[in-house]
Amino acid sequence: MKVLTRKLENEGKEIVHLEIGEPDFDTPENIKEAGINAIKNGFTHYAPSQGLPELREAVAGYISRTRHISVTPDEVIITPGGKDIIFYTMMALLNEGDEVIIPDPGYYPYRTDAELFGAKVVSLPLVEETNFSFNRSVFKSLITPRTKLIVLISPANPTGNLFSQSDLEFIANLAKENDIYVLSDEIYSRIVYEGEFQSIASIPGMKERTIILDGFSKTYAMTGWRLGYGVANKNLIQIFNKFLVSSNSCTATFTQIAGIEALKGNQDAVNEMVRAYKERRDFLYKEINGIEGLSVKKPDGAFYLFVNIKKTGMSSNEFVLYLLNNFGVATIPGSTFGTYGEGYIRISYANSMENLRKAVIQIRKAVEAIKS
Ligand SMILES: Cc1ncc(COP(=O)(O)O)c(C=O)c1O
Repeated sequence: MKVLTRKLENEGKEIVHLEIGEPDFDTPENIKEAGINAIKNGFTHYAPSQGLPELREAVAGYISRTRHISVTPDEVIITPGGKDIIFYTMMALLNEGDEVIIPDPGYYPYRTDAELFGAKVVSLPLVEETNFSFNRSVFKSLITPRTKLIVLISPANPTGNLFSQSDLEFIANLAKENDIYVLSDEIYSRIVYEGEFQSIASIPGMKERTIILDGFSKTYAMTGWRLGYGVANKNLIQIFNKFLVSSNSCTATFTQIAGIEALKGNQDAVNEMVRAYKERRDFLYKEINGIEGLSVKKPDGAFYLFVNIKKTGMSSNEFVLYLLNNFGVATIPGSTFGTYGEGYIRISYANSMENLRKAVIQIRKAVEAIKS
């Protein structure tokens, strides 16, 4: 799809990019300054592999405060992006034939990484009828003696759904009863519009068996800085550290200094970005539901809409190609995120209101052209 989008642009076609999962905002000034000053002040050498002690301390404090648990710096590892934590967790925990329960639809690296380590991917259906949550008896039926890991993404990519406290308690009980680890992807935890973000790690007895993935990419518009972290028990963190030593040596030092400023500095820019995302979400939610043939649930968080396109009669891949080739709007087929994503497209609203307005006009034309 990327290749096709580039080809169309090279031919002079204007494309509205609603496929990209990263903030359109610039990194806040205070964070940029901290990074620039760090370079000027000589933070251009290796850092300790597990991360700068000041940053690990800041992360431990932040997670302790927001998740209501007690986390120490030796339970934290700083990585070049949250994505590393997916890879490290799977490399540390999975053996050939182990089973991993992964949300479907869900952020696709979970599936590909699990397969890389010879594990069996067990899809947890997240369907629109349950507001993109899950059916409890279905979830229970997926657990077997080989289940090693459950992946949770909340707020979710691609649906924007936030798991409720009672959903989390249900999963926590299953994990405890069956001795299963939970990888809790909390990268969108600060981008929430409805309800309140809850972490499964806050539930008694869960901290020891939960790996929290979080980072700076989404909250602070820092995707290109490559800065994320994992929080887990000390033994796992030590294993993760060996992986990091063998691969990257450490996360860029000046990037980590910028991360300290991000966590400890003024948070007004984050609040402003979330306010803008909410405005865009409300605009798109109303407009898309106003197009006959499309429908969408209101997402609780993140910056995606998962739009039901079933009434168009096209597959999600066909619809995405049709929209891109003929109407200049780039989106992602729901099927990219798993079997249960078929019949949907993912729209990212990390884009300007001006572009979203243009996109809505084009999407409306596209759907009307199918009917006529
Ligand atoms: C659900 C989810 N987890 C993790 C990541 C990885 O983020 P990063 O590696 O930039 O920290 C992303 C990025 O798109 C994501 O959507």
